[in-house]
Amino acid sequence: MTTVGPGAAHEGTRSPTEPTRSPAYVDDRRHVFHSWSAQAALDPVVVAGGDGAWFWDDAGRRYLDFSSQLIFLNLGHQHPRMVEAITEQVAVLATVAPTYANAARSEAARLIAERAPGDLDRVFFTSGGTEANEHAVRMARLHTGRHKVLTMYRSYHGATSGSIVATGDPRRWPSEPGPGGYVKFLGPYPYRSSFWSTSEDEECERALAHLDQVLMFEGPANVAAVMLEPVVGTNGVLVPPDGYLAGVRERCDRHGIVMIADEVMSGFGRCGEWFAVDRWGVVPDLVTFAKGVNSGYVPLGGVAISPDIAATFADRPYPGGLTYSGHPLACAAAVASIGIFEDEGILARARHLGEKVIGPRLSALAEHHPSVGDVRGLGCFWAVELVKDRASREMLVPFNATGADARPMAELLAACKSRGVVPFTHFNRLHVCPPLVISDEDAHAGLDAIDEALTIADRWATA
Ligand SMILES: Cc1ncc(COP(=O)(O)O)c(C=O)c1O
Repeated sequence: MTTVGPGAAHEGTRSPTEPTRSPAYVDDRRHVFHSWSAQAALDPVVVAGGDGAWFWDDAGRRYLDFSSQLIFLNLGHQHPRMVEAITEQVAVLATVAPTYANAARSEAARLIAERAPGDLDRVFFTSGGTEANEHAVRMARLHTGRHKVLTMYRSYHGATSGSIVATGDPRRWPSEPGPGGYVKFLGPYPYRSSFWSTSEDEECERALAHLDQVLMFEGPANVAAVMLEPVVGTNGVLVPPDGYLAGVRERCDRHGIVMIADEVMSGFGRCGEWFAVDRWGVVPDLVTFAKGVNSGYVPLGGVAISPDIAATFADRPYPGGLTYSGHPLACAAAVASIGIFEDEGILARARHLGEKVIGPRLSALAEHHPSVGDVRGLGCFWAVELVKDRASREMLVPFNATGADARPMAELLAACKSRGVVPFTHFNRLHVCPPLVISDEDAHAGLDAIDEALTIADRWATA
């Protein structure tokens, strides 16, 4: 008998002892080329559905999503108003070229501009975060007539050719040498200070002094932009000391440098604010966003632009564009998302979860797990930093560990998953970043599971 349909080609080749896998799994393993991975050993969970902070696989096993998929699912799975807005838009106008105006894009731009920091009031839409950063850098270079861009070592800015070399973390290495002009500096990180600081104030002051030095050596008149994640995401949920972002703003003003805040991960409620910079009242010149703008229901990113930079391109063409810039389905999802944030008090909810549930529970974990060296975060954006030894702060696994070196973290993640919770892990850290709509009860249940799983990490800790 001939079978037609997904996975059919596999039927004749499966050995009798091989467990029956769904067509989705079989076709994935045969035909999907996955991001960032050696393809041979992959064993992806087939996600069959989701609801809020939960998702389930094709065998019906349920998981509590403590990584908001890839930290973008701020409103959780299948929010009915999001689904409805996309469905309504698809029936009216499923797509349109960027040259035209359309209702969904116009409204999304206005709603974002109204919530963007300070006087940023114009939006260039992209299809995701890396493109947003590419365009922000291009705008800064053309606006200033300068070339260099300063970014942090502990950063991730995306995977296209400019953003990957703007990135500080090791994902940059295989793409080097890439486009020139990207210079790295060290940001504040009180728990592992590069500046021998003993307090947050000292860390702030010394990290700014270091930035001054880098500017001096690079020549501030050559620097187009300083681009940073206001709260560094994947590289550690590094919440800057009070005064740091204001200090960067001041230096940008002094030297005529464009300040770019990459809020792709930290924006749209993740930190309990529309944008993380709002917490410190700092207004960048360009703010890039993606992910939480519409919880990734349809790919969308963008750059919120200051009047000054927008004016540069009033009479001079902006040399850049994207076929799907301001796609109506993505923009309709953004409009719905912002409405839900307002109507359901999502920012307050994220702050509540951080202040009353996640923060206190993680601090309590730190008391009785010797592997927990530091706990930090805000809103629904938290990191648990794991160490072998609390006194020396030696990392539980080495920087950028892979294979056998990364085993303690792999075992910890497996222990979490076996208890039905999926946190995000990176190097020696476990990140707790659930959708902002998670109930207190579910958040507690997930944290209970992490508490149990951490006994695995404790076994690798020596003190
Ligand atoms: C801070 C930051 N910037 C940029 C990006 C890249 O976004 P995208 O994957 O949508 O291109 C990411 C993705 O994780 C990010 O966390």
